[in-house]
Amino acid sequence: MNSVGNLRKAKLSAAKKAMEFIADAEVIGVGTGSTVEVFISLLGESKSEWRGRVFTASSIDTALKLGDLGFKVLHPVSIEKLDVYVDGADEVDRELNMIKGGGAALTLEKIMTYYSDRRVFIVDYTKLVGYLGEKHPVPLDVQQQALNLVCRYLSKRGYKPKIRYATKGKYGPIISDVGGVIVDVYPQKRFDPLELERELTSLPGVIETGLFVGLADFVVVGYEERAEVLKRGR
Ligand code: A5P
Repeated sequence: MNSVGNLRKAKLSAAKKAMEFIADAEVIGVGTGSTVEVFISLLGESKSEWRGRVFTASSIDTALKLGDLGFKVLHPVSIEKLDVYVDGADEVDRELNMIKGGGAALTLEKIMTYYSDRRVFIVDYTKLVGYLGEKHPVPLDVQQQALNLVCRYLSKRGYKPKIRYATKGKYGPIISDVGGVIVDVYPQKRFDPLELERELTSLPGVIETGLFVGLADFVVVGYEERAEVLKRGR
């Protein structure tokens, strides 16, 4: 059984290790989620070290958190170059492909990941899976007007799309930071991540998918007492 305390320690181990990857960076992109939240609190504990750096965030939530700590946070539109991007993930397979978007922030996350010089993901050990889709659906960010058309099309092709609804604080579907609706897709069989990614992103109305294929340079896996760095291509 993973206790909450153990998981928190594992996230902390990963977040601490990730600090090494941002030491030389001037422009730092920060992702979203509970593991990143731990990373942000570590930044807060060593504020003076990061004061001269520029941050940008893949979600409103992270922008607010960084801003509250007094860091310089720029809107992504003002960023021309990202030295490093740090984010969490929901699932990581052996090739370091990932499912992301459990926190509904996948589109900006993918943009920042793709355009960053160094891409670092921090996860606790429960995120490692044998194959993608083992535990989580594949989230999609879908243009609002296309929602029913996209869902019907996916259903007809045997995927089980499910609009993600807020359980608290809002009635209705979850709207992403870029104005789309989050749809969780439950493929009914094992899939090739790259093939599925290509198929889903080719659909008009799909803004982005939570499949991150070949995009992680490093995945830092946190355990209770240590962190292990997995490097792509090894
Ligand atoms: C946000 O939409 C996600 O991609 C997160 O990075 C992912 O869900 C991991 O979040 P946790 O660190 O909270 O598990």
